[in-house]
Amino acid sequence: MTTAICPGSFDPVTIGHVDIIKRAAKMFDRVIVAVLVNMEKKPWFTIEERTELLKKATEGIENVEIVGFEGLLVDFAAANHADAIVKGLRAISDFEYEFQMALTNNKLNPDVETVFLTTSAENMYLSSSIVKQVGLLGGDISPFVPECVHDEILLRIRQRSNLK
Ligand code: PNS
Repeated sequence: MTTAICPGSFDPVTIGHVDIIKRAAKMFDRVIVAVLVNMEKKPWFTIEERTELLKKATEGIENVEIVGFEGLLVDFAAANHADAIVKGLRAISDFEYEFQMALTNNKLNPDVETVFLTTSAENMYLSSSIVKQVGLLGGDISPFVPECVHDEILLRIRQRSNLK
């Protein structure tokens, strides 16, 4: 049985994330989506909120599980006997950062391989930051997030804007 980890901050989940998860789920027997801490980012959503949103957004994909984890990705991958870490690669701008992470992870644990899936052309521009920015400024986020979690994401963004 092959296992892949799809790691990320997912703050919040976008249709681009779901596309990568669905494609990984066709390639591997088991896909564990790991909601992790990115120390370079200040999350708007808690790990629990991000996990819940992902569970709803991936409902019905049989071989996908969603897990929140606060340690090193390679430790999580090893503990789950993962064959690969799967990440989506959007554009040149992603490359340097993703390359650095993949090499660091491989140094920390040479048994862990990173596989990149090219993002679908229609999601090239999409990111969680764009969703937060558009939502915060009153724009329509429906083209960017799964329909089933649209209202929850918008509510959280609005709550956040009221706090400012
Ligand atoms: O969606 P993101 O923010 O690009 O994902 C980055 C993430 C969360 C996968 C990365 O920050 C990560 O792996 N965090 C867990 C801690 C860790 O292992 N850090 C070392 C990796 S270089």
